[in-house]
Amino acid sequence: MKKKYARITGTGSAAPDNILTNADLEKMVDTTDDWITSRTGIKERRIAPDGMAASDYAYQASLKAMEMAGITAGEIDLIILATVTPDAPLPSTACILQDKLGAVNAAVVDIVAACSGFIYGLSFARALIMTGQHDKILVIGVETLSRIVNWKDRNTCVLFGDGAGAAIVTAADQPGGILDTYIKADGSLAHLLQVPAGGGRQPITPEIVGNGARYIQMEGPDVFKSAVKAMGEAATKLIEKTGIDSNNISLMIPHQANIRIIEATARRIKLPMDRVFVNIQKYGNTSAASIPIALDEANRNGLIKPGDNVMLVAFGAGFTWGSALIEW
Ligand SMILES: CC(C)(COP(=O)(O)OP(=O)(O)OC[C@H]1O[C@@H](n2cnc3c(N)ncnc32)[C@H](O)[C@@H]1OP(=O)(O)O)[C@@H](O)C(=O)NCCC(=O)NCCS
Repeated sequence: MKKKYARITGTGSAAPDNILTNADLEKMVDTTDDWITSRTGIKERRIAPDGMAASDYAYQASLKAMEMAGITAGEIDLIILATVTPDAPLPSTACILQDKLGAVNAAVVDIVAACSGFIYGLSFARALIMTGQHDKILVIGVETLSRIVNWKDRNTCVLFGDGAGAAIVTAADQPGGILDTYIKADGSLAHLLQVPAGGGRQPITPEIVGNGARYIQMEGPDVFKSAVKAMGEAATKLIEKTGIDSNNISLMIPHQANIRIIEATARRIKLPMDRVFVNIQKYGNTSAASIPIALDEANRNGLIKPGDNVMLVAFGAGFTWGSALIEW
């Protein structure tokens, strides 16, 4: 069998129009624009209105990615959708999206790897293309985190936002594309960032609704330390695996959780910040959507040229973490 390579041939993104600024949050919880900006880099985030769900934004982002790649829905043979905020527990949001798109020839699956979900999706897509099982894969990261945020908890509600990003990954004969990926997890630290209720262990009851256990709970400083360590490791491992060091990385697109985590990751691989893409000020942390939204913005703004090496690096609840190195 002829060797195949996995190339990203289209990107797209979408976010709600509704903007929630730090000034808006000052009226909701005991916080200030200065605290949020200096501790996180976030100025505003997008919030989905009632009635809109993950598949709606995934649909908008997917159409843009398909248009850029020049493919129709019928050509897609696999949809991998990463989210922790599905439209509903059953069926998968990928199924709902398949129907909206009319991607009738696609197998579809949701994956849950929190903020690392898009990197996990790219890793699976690359492997399935290189082994000849699929040719045109739609990979999506999408979240409506506003639905699982406790709007009374200032420790978390200032951090998160909603949105979607998509990429078409296509089989190619020429070397290049997604050169390599690295994915890892450590489930022993799950308790540091979680939504405890809403599954089989703690089903939703009137008590649960009252006590906030169906919302995101986070030990911020512990998560911060683990994120710095894990994102540094993910970037370093891929540099070691591929031999492509920071001198040859044109752009790093990190998960947008906190500007200080991003800066620490860049320092770890000695990459100057002018080669690091940052849009956290506009969206906050959109979990699985953060990297594909940033990738699409960088791509559409002409920051990525053919032949450039682009490093994606993520960390999220689980904990999960990972990286991908792409020759564009
Ligand atoms: C949450 C985070 C921004 C807090 O920043 P920090 O520098 O660690 O701040 P600290 O934990 O030292 O908190 C300092 C104080 O600010 C307070 N504080 C927390 N949120 C606040 C807010 N929105 N506004 C004002 N004060 C706030 C805390 O209560 C604490 O007060 P205390 O000292 O009286 O107890 C930071 O820990 C972080 O980004 N963690 C990682 C989060 C993340 O990325 N999660 C997703 C991973 S994918």
